[in-house]
Amino acid sequence: MLFDLNPKESPNELFGREEELDELVRLLRARRWVAVLGPRMVGKTSLVKVANTRIDQNAVYLNLWGVKGTQGLLSALVHGLNSSKSLLQKVRDGVERVEGLSVGPGGVSVAAPKKPLRTMWDLLNMIGKQKGNYVIELDEVQELAVISGHLLKMLANIFNTYSNMTFVFTGSIFGLMKTLIEPKSSSPLYGRSPAKLYLRPFEKTKAVGFLNKGFKEYGIKVPHDGITDAIEERLDGIPGWLALYGNNVAVRKMSFEKALSDTVSEGLKIVREELEHFLEGRDRSAYLAALKAAATSARWGELKGAMEARRQLPVNDATVYNVLESLKASMLIDEQEKVYRVNDPMLRTLLLTAKIR
Ligand SMILES: Nc1ncnc2c1ncn2[C@@H]1O[C@H](COP(=O)(O)OP(=O)(O)OP(=O)(O)O)[C@@H](O)[C@H]1O
Ligand SMILES: [Mg+2]
Repeated sequence: MLFDLNPKESPNELFGREEELDELVRLLRARRWVAVLGPRMVGKTSLVKVANTRIDQNAVYLNLWGVKGTQGLLSALVHGLNSSKSLLQKVRDGVERVEGLSVGPGGVSVAAPKKPLRTMWDLLNMIGKQKGNYVIELDEVQELAVISGHLLKMLANIFNTYSNMTFVFTGSIFGLMKTLIEPKSSSPLYGRSPAKLYLRPFEKTKAVGFLNKGFKEYGIKVPHDGITDAIEERLDGIPGWLALYGNNVAVRKMSFEKALSDTVSEGLKIVREELEHFLEGRDRSAYLAALKAAATSARWGELKGAMEARRQLPVNDATVYNVLESLKASMLIDEQEKVYRVNDPMLRTLLLTAKIR
């Protein structure tokens, strides 16, 4: 059902992504590394999961949301391995010999290894040495930003050693993504950058098609105006918001109006959590000042002014530059002809209407 709220896993549940799906499948069959890029709720996880059903390779999917450090990454890898029965079978014996890992009836488990990075490397080697091709999918890869140095080195080593092992990277807010997808000449991944696959929000006709098809599955007739207004005003063709809106009407039996306002407030809640997550460990007041100014579009001078007004202190150009660069790298703002703007309609609404200090 189109309005199901989990990431889609089968091709017939995935709406309007034929080209992107073909592209991802083609790249993976050609053993390319891929970064799936796009705004939140656009369907990145769904695309990756559906692609898994079409490639003849063992896919190990890792959800990294909330993962901290190397130990967390290792646990996620072990968890992914445990969900891939055939691969688990193959590496079982080898895993017994890796420091910090053990195998029981429930699969592999991690017992506080002395050097988690080493254990991780041994485990990946074990997988790489098996016959067959493997795809390792790191979803929400921005969570690994704190260990990016180690991670990039390890990835470069894998790239050079095992042609049967490919990686897919996905994430919605990506500080780390930039170092992955556009590695500088000093980076271990230089010259090995993954192919980029962009997922964009649906165009209006496709968005209407999505809602019509979804409502039809429930036998609900939709007044045309209700749909187009909703899309235009608030949901902006993002499949995840469209699905939530449809679900509110079809499953939770809300009126079209209530469904829309609920979707927007749910969206705002999620965006707020992500924003707070992004601000952790960053210069909160500088970032918030810049974001709020960019919510209505602003030039460099205006952004700098906003930051100074908030701090009631002069702010130097280097600080302004760094803040703007990292907001751009995280895809929270866009720059066009020297005008900076917040892309996401939900984030814009949040910055302009909610109390965030
Ligand atoms: N092409 C599509 N067809 C049908 N449903 C979709 C499609 N794309 C996304 N969805 C739905 O939208 C929601 C978000 O999808 P998904 O989790 O795949 O997006 P995401 O980009 O990974 O989001 P996040 O940024 O939160 O990780 C889910 O309910 C999913 O079922
Ligand atoms: Mg996702």
